[in-house]
Amino acid sequence: MSNSPLLSAYRGIRPDRLPVWFMRQAGRSLPEYRASRAGTVMLDACLTPELAAEITLQPVRRHGVDAAIFFSDIVVPLKLAGVDVEIVPGRGPVFGRPVRDAADLADLVAHDLDPQALAPIEEAVARTVAELGDVPLIGFAGAPFTLASYVVEGGPSKDQLRARTLMHAEPEAWRTLTGYLARISGAFLAAQVRSGARAVQLFDSWAGALSEADYRAGALPASAAALAAVHDVPKVHFGTGTALLLPAMRDAGADVVGVDHRLPLDAASALLGGSTPVQGNIDPALLAAPWPVLERHLEAVAAAGRAAPAHVLNLGHGVPPDTDPGVLTRIVEWTHRR
Ligand code: CP3
Repeated sequence: MSNSPLLSAYRGIRPDRLPVWFMRQAGRSLPEYRASRAGTVMLDACLTPELAAEITLQPVRRHGVDAAIFFSDIVVPLKLAGVDVEIVPGRGPVFGRPVRDAADLADLVAHDLDPQALAPIEEAVARTVAELGDVPLIGFAGAPFTLASYVVEGGPSKDQLRARTLMHAEPEAWRTLTGYLARISGAFLAAQVRSGARAVQLFDSWAGALSEADYRAGALPASAAALAAVHDVPKVHFGTGTALLLPAMRDAGADVVGVDHRLPLDAASALLGGSTPVQGNIDPALLAAPWPVLERHLEAVAAAGRAAPAHVLNLGHGVPPDTDPGVLTRIVEWTHRR
């Protein structure tokens, strides 16, 4: 395990070869995933340890990536706390009782997460780790701001308008909500690390909707609390549209910062002061381009990544569902040949 290129890079020591994995590698782009999932709704699949372990392992077997990412979802710990949430195919998480007033908030935060409820997660992680051998498993959770945007809206939203209104209009309610979500996500991360995950990633996918001042005042404290729930493993912090937020996201307690496709990695590294390992940032749109076009882009991403102390190759956001899985395998082969 100590010679895992991924873990070296996450610790800031550039390994002999560039490590690579893909956000949303465990999922719909794989026919074996669709076969495993047939007849099982998303959240039931996440809570069936044998199935969650199998789906987590599929992209490692197929592509030879340098890490597994646990098959689950950012809303799973809320589900385990008894919150009324489902994942609607083609849409995303949908909440039965969106938080629109004080009574909704009181109802939500009364849903404590009983540590015993995390048993299916612990079992799935332990099964996965037992099969993975030297390949490390990355655990993950949703950052409180991104989770809050779903909870307040009741489902996916374009620009997180209601969440941003609440942050300013009702600062006390906002602190209660994000504090609750930090405890939930922190417990989810801790369960994964306890059971064998060797690194964690906090997904704040929609943090890019915030100004730096709003991020620092309204999102960072709860993200820091979630990250503080785990120790002794490298912590990655990722969002999209976060060019203005990268130092703040590092300041939340991250060892590694994930970057989306909008900002070249050398520019990201400069913004971070040159001392923080980076992860990213292949434009997911180029997965559907002809190989020579994609290869030129890979060269540029790998070259820009050399400006940082260490680099883990990844996408700028998740694998699009209609991606040809052969392209992902080819990227891994290309990366490992260099
Ligand atoms: O990266 C991985 O492969 C690990 C598994 C993983 C999933 N969701 C599985 C999943 C991870 C890390 C996530 C994180 C997640 N979930 C985020 C943060 C990362 C990001 O993409 O920005 C967010 C915002 C969610 C919420 C969510 N869950 C959305 C927006 C969707 C898509 C809905 C759709 O059908 O378009 C989901 C569902 C989901 N989560 C799927 C998977 C494999 C698809 C479920 C299916 O097969 O129908």
